[in-house]
Amino acid sequence: MKISKLVQRAGTETAFETLAKAKALERQGRSIIHLEIGEPDFNTPENIKQAGIKAIQENYTHYSPSQGILELREAVAENISKTRNIDVSPDEVVITPGGKDIIFFTALSLLDDGDEAIYPNPSYPIYESAIKIAGATPVPLQLLEENDFAFDRKEFEKLVTEKTRLIIINSPGNPTGSILSQEDLEFIADIAKKNDIMVLSDEIYSQIIYGEKFRSIASIKGMKERTIILDGFSKTYAMTGWRLGYGVANKELIKAITKIITNSDSCVATFTQIAGIEALKGPQDEVEKMRKMYEERRNIVINGLNEIPGVSCKMPKGAFYAFANIKSFGKTSKELADYLLNNAGVATLPGTAFGKYGEGYIRLSYATSKENIREGLNRIKEALSKL
Ligand SMILES: Cc1ncc(COP(=O)(O)O)c(C=O)c1O
Repeated sequence: MKISKLVQRAGTETAFETLAKAKALERQGRSIIHLEIGEPDFNTPENIKQAGIKAIQENYTHYSPSQGILELREAVAENISKTRNIDVSPDEVVITPGGKDIIFFTALSLLDDGDEAIYPNPSYPIYESAIKIAGATPVPLQLLEENDFAFDRKEFEKLVTEKTRLIIINSPGNPTGSILSQEDLEFIADIAKKNDIMVLSDEIYSQIIYGEKFRSIASIKGMKERTIILDGFSKTYAMTGWRLGYGVANKELIKAITKIITNSDSCVATFTQIAGIEALKGPQDEVEKMRKMYEERRNIVINGLNEIPGVSCKMPKGAFYAFANIKSFGKTSKELADYLLNNAGVATLPGTAFGKYGEGYIRLSYATSKENIREGLNRIKEALSKL
């Protein structure tokens, strides 16, 4: 059997591999603190669960339109219009099994062989992978710790060529927790408009943000038509396993993405979509409760990391990750993450799981209890003191 070149080009998400390794150690009786996976530890709020159960009982168990059911698209359009201060209609919305598909389907819809796509690095590994699967060339834009994990504008300009078709941005960002400033967003918008480039704005952490107002590039004049907003329910509503996300873009692109869905998934589980309507239209107090809890945990983990000799970590402004600098130990990120897993029983991810510019860092997810965070920090401190 021969595996296709397309699959050989694809990358992967190391988080799932590390999780498997950590689980194997647990099966051998080891105690492991899980700081590797980027998934809320909270359960889906009760009103959303009940809406899903009721939908199954009411037989919302049949196929639905590939683009998503109208009532959910209306709820998304209303929500995005309000939160991004733009005018979105339901036919500019597509519902997908997770926000992740928007990355993949956008790449498939916009990129051809020989095209180039600029994406942040370190970043969510699926960007690079999706660009490669589509046959295009991934062009990494380095995020710099000294710039609070923003990019250097001069370097950005150098990466733009006549082949650039797509720019991917992610704010708040995974794995750094950084937020793009209004000036940076306007800089990118200018480049996109001047060079006729589309922008995929991954806004999956738009509601997990600390002390700042969320800003979308789509809100900038002239950008709505050339932006694909990716958002969803996994992080905001603790609904990772439901598989529900969406894209907001111009109608032509939404049609292209819908065509891919007809060819692949057919549609998102219909009862899941009904639960999504409740998520958007029901009470939002659980969202704020979770956000506050993440903020408290963030303070514990960042302060704790900065107290460990040899480790330093910037205060993230969003998402639920700490991206800690471990360069002083003279080991690669992978060696250090392996050392922490095997010797301290703490699962983290090497920065290189997020691209080559992640070397020298490890990512810790603080979507876990304060007890776990404290125990994890104690174990890390002790293990690193032996190096
Ligand atoms: C930056 C980013 N984008 C998109 C996703 C995909 O989320 P989902 O497919 O669960 O909606 C994730 C999940 O980890 C992420 O971190």
